[in-house]
Amino acid sequence: MIDERDKQLAEIKDAVLDCKKCFLCRTRTYPVVGKGSHSAEILFCGEAPGYWEDQKGEPFVGKAGKILEILLESIGLGRKDVYIANLLKCRPPENRDPNLSEIKACTPYLEKQIDIIKPKVICPLGRFSMNFLMEKFGLKDKIEPIGKIHGQLFEVNSLFQQTKLVPLYHPAVATYNPNMTTVLKKDFQILKQIIDNNQHN
Ligand code: URA
Ligand code: SF4
Repeated sequence: MIDERDKQLAEIKDAVLDCKKCFLCRTRTYPVVGKGSHSAEILFCGEAPGYWEDQKGEPFVGKAGKILEILLESIGLGRKDVYIANLLKCRPPENRDPNLSEIKACTPYLEKQIDIIKPKVICPLGRFSMNFLMEKFGLKDKIEPIGKIHGQLFEVNSLFQQTKLVPLYHPAVATYNPNMTTVLKKDFQILKQIIDNNQHN
């Protein structure tokens, strides 16, 4: 039986694979839609595909991906247990920062992914995803530098659902500063507690 979520996510995938809504469609090799469990309780949102992601069409398959995998393992999870998406689905040339028009053009896809998967916990990875997602969830006035609010829990209650946001450093920071692995691991322990508490409620 085809799950409704599978069907809706497949529609997004088709749309992204053909998408020409911003100039990144001209320089990308493959768009990276996102990957993981369609009923994931945790959704990680990176920034944008890098070199390897663009080559393979899959999220977090380069160095930062290896770190993300280690962090997931440290709390007993694998890629299949979570959903991994990105703010932008196509790689910016030379991995430059996403610009506003790209974010505006692309984020409706991410918003639909979140609406379909309905994760209980959303972890923005890095400041661009953090800024976008905190604003989307009505937390604009709580935005601070990621160095200050990484690993903090923000709870969002709407009429329809309860969502938790936990901003995290982008795992790529640990590729040029190994000390950051320790910080990330600590934040993942906090994340584990949040998930465990969720399951007891
Ligand atoms: N960095 C990201 O933000 N996303 C990826 O998919 C890979 C690296
Ligand atoms: Fe479309 Fe997003 Fe790719 Fe731009 S980055 S072409 S909006 S999928």
